[in-house]
Amino acid sequence: MNIKDFEPVKTLSISVVREKPSGSPITVILQPGSEQAALGEPGKSAGSLIVNRADNGEIRLIVSTGLPAKATPETLRQTGGLLARWLVDNKVSSALIDADSISSPGGNNALAGFCEGLLLGSYQFVKYRKNKPANLVNLYLLSKEPAGLSSMLSDIEKTCYAVNLARQIIHEPANVINPETLSELARDLANEYGLKCTVYDSAQLQEMKAGALLAVGKGSKTPSRLIVLEYPGQGGSTAKAPVALVGKAITFDTGGYSLKSTEHILGMKYDKAGGVSVLATLITAASLKLPQPLVGVIPAAENMISGGSYRPDDILTSMSGKTIEIVSTDAEGRLILADALTFTQKTFKPAALIDMATLTGGVIIALGHVRAGILANDDELCRALLKSGEQTYERLWQLPLDEEYNELIKSHEADMRNSGPREASTIMGGIFLKQFIEDGTRWAHLDIAGTGDVAKDMPYCPAGPTGFGIRLLINYLKQI
Ligand code: BES
Ligand code: MN
Ligand code: ZN
Repeated sequence: MNIKDFEPVKTLSISVVREKPSGSPITVILQPGSEQAALGEPGKSAGSLIVNRADNGEIRLIVSTGLPAKATPETLRQTGGLLARWLVDNKVSSALIDADSISSPGGNNALAGFCEGLLLGSYQFVKYRKNKPANLVNLYLLSKEPAGLSSMLSDIEKTCYAVNLARQIIHEPANVINPETLSELARDLANEYGLKCTVYDSAQLQEMKAGALLAVGKGSKTPSRLIVLEYPGQGGSTAKAPVALVGKAITFDTGGYSLKSTEHILGMKYDKAGGVSVLATLITAASLKLPQPLVGVIPAAENMISGGSYRPDDILTSMSGKTIEIVSTDAEGRLILADALTFTQKTFKPAALIDMATLTGGVIIALGHVRAGILANDDELCRALLKSGEQTYERLWQLPLDEEYNELIKSHEADMRNSGPREASTIMGGIFLKQFIEDGTRWAHLDIAGTGDVAKDMPYCPAGPTGFGIRLLINYLKQI
């Protein structure tokens, strides 16, 4: 295992300059779009662009920022993303843009959004391809006040690097990333970023009575692991309770004996998105030196079929002591999370507990690929996360956890069952997890099954995993 093998390729680099650099970089001009674009003007959609060649050979790229009435920092993020992809695809070696011209909407937020778009939009997963884009685009931001801009850019670079690293790891197929290799990678990354990392193997999990996490991994050649990362917070008192982030890392989800169809099994290497994004969030927090202490807990398992696999009708005893009747081996995410949630509360007594998981197909039915679901037992925590979602455009929508929904997971033979009827499936997932939340724990669950990956290219994310949740959580953590 070498962490260099998992680095995202750098395709674009941004530098802040006071004067136009030598050479003849392409000049990029951002321009509001108009409903009826004249000849030589880009269209109304953000990121649409035209190439303009002057008589003296100078090349200008005129890029639309979208209709002014619709302008937000997000439209600039999209503009940056589409521009970045164009520059990379067209093998541009250097380009120049007047940063001081980007001041609205939202002042600095606009420029921050634009830079995020550039760095996220230039990402590509090319590791296994013969034809790799060999060039690096140097994008110069021209500014009269480079100092403030440079420090803002440095934070954005750290966050976007972690998002692209998460995308890269989530992209990796299950013949490369399994619970063991993910643990090694987490250990190496933790080392590099100065995080404490503890990995519990299956023998240790047995002693910890993690019956639910272990059961899910029983059919795999690489059994379950529990990866625990600790970040003490910069300059803070160690007495401060940490915020705990828990992420589902199913390195491949076949469904187990409740086998998925040929159609639905495709893409299930992305079922580790929550866990990998928790890892990336801790890395970001460390490199940004955030004051808030954090723990990241990542239950990892591969949901496979074999003679050793767990079955429908099995009754498991979880780490909490609560028993679970298995109705579907495909509702495996909640099982590994159950033990992780118990472990996290017992070990760390967190000030807040946030879990992130590609938990249910139902959230795609409810919210599509636009918003992730949030279910929470604490209004203040939920509101703060909803707000952070709007600010980062990693948007959430709340679903309820009313007691009546407990009916859905009632079992006659055990304390609960892991699945139930088809209705309200995302809520059922939340209700199940809630059984493992102790009184007094402030908790929120993010169901990212619809937003964790995209089927087609988006303005600042190519088809594949998005790294959803990292920017949202970092922005939230900065505000507490
Ligand atoms: N990993 C899936 C959820 C999923 C589905 C993620 C589609 C991304 C795209 C999860 O483990 C699962 O199989 N959930 C079941 C739960 C059901 C059996 C209660 C589902 O949603 O169908
Ligand atoms: Mn499943
Ligand atoms: Zn799953």
